[in-house]
Amino acid sequence: MSGTVDQYGVVGHPVAHSLSPFIHAMFARQTGQAMSYRLFDFAPETFQERIAAFFAQGGRGLNITLPYKIEAVALANELTTRAQHASAVNTLALRKDGSILGDNTDGVGLTQDLCVNQRMVLTRRRVLIIGAGGAARGVLAPLLGLEPEVVVIANRTADRAKALATAFAPMGNVQGVGFRYISAGAFDLIINATSASLTGEIPDIPVGVIGPDTFCYDMAYGKGDTPFVRWALELGCRAAVPGWGMLVEQAAESFRLWRGVRPLTGPVISALTAS
Ligand code: ATR
Repeated sequence: MSGTVDQYGVVGHPVAHSLSPFIHAMFARQTGQAMSYRLFDFAPETFQERIAAFFAQGGRGLNITLPYKIEAVALANELTTRAQHASAVNTLALRKDGSILGDNTDGVGLTQDLCVNQRMVLTRRRVLIIGAGGAARGVLAPLLGLEPEVVVIANRTADRAKALATAFAPMGNVQGVGFRYISAGAFDLIINATSASLTGEIPDIPVGVIGPDTFCYDMAYGKGDTPFVRWALELGCRAAVPGWGMLVEQAAESFRLWRGVRPLTGPVISALTAS
């Protein structure tokens, strides 16, 4: 690929809906970086060899999205600590020595959006995460790093929540429960990390978790309010937002890893939410 601009892209299956090319094109323009960023829809049978071929031909970095974030762990020669905690990779970067670094920027994407864009303070606050799949796992370490009073993981299948809480117990006060056993009282922050939004469903959690000071965050996003955001607003929470900021912040962190410069995220979040 010599003679062309540096090559990047996002790998998924399907991936046509991904907004990452739009986001990275805005970052590249803003920071004056010469690079291209494309969509790669690789079928499961050819996923590994096509990624190897991308880097063998001089490709510089990839984002990895559904359904490959766990599989991509095996493609990296080395993992960052946060990718190890997440047990998943959303960013691959070619290093100078030819080896491939696997990173996960999802968690820091969420905490950046919460702490910087939404100006939240989470120290000694009570946090509820709904869901115990890959999305929840990916954000637990950065959230616990903010030293909340407690992170309660609540999941439809209680055993998954308990297993996740046990895995992260060395990092802070974290509990895993089924929906019916969420401790009484309102939380300061509730994060929807389930895939229930995809089918328009609301996780069946007790409404008492939401009070007038509760901030609600949906890791999902879409045109207009998500079902979870609508539900939380109807219950009278302080504010409820979809995950556009997390999407853009995780991308900015990948961009920084690849290009050594962190782009401004505000204009990109505005562009995405205005349309
Ligand atoms: P992801 O990687 O997106 O987290 P996942 O690992 O399949 O995907 O996890 C999906 C999460 O959404 C799980 O916590 C799942 O709950 P279960 O473990 O009980 O399956 C949760 N989920 C999906 N649909 C849901 C629904 N309708 N109500 C509540 N939780 C739901």
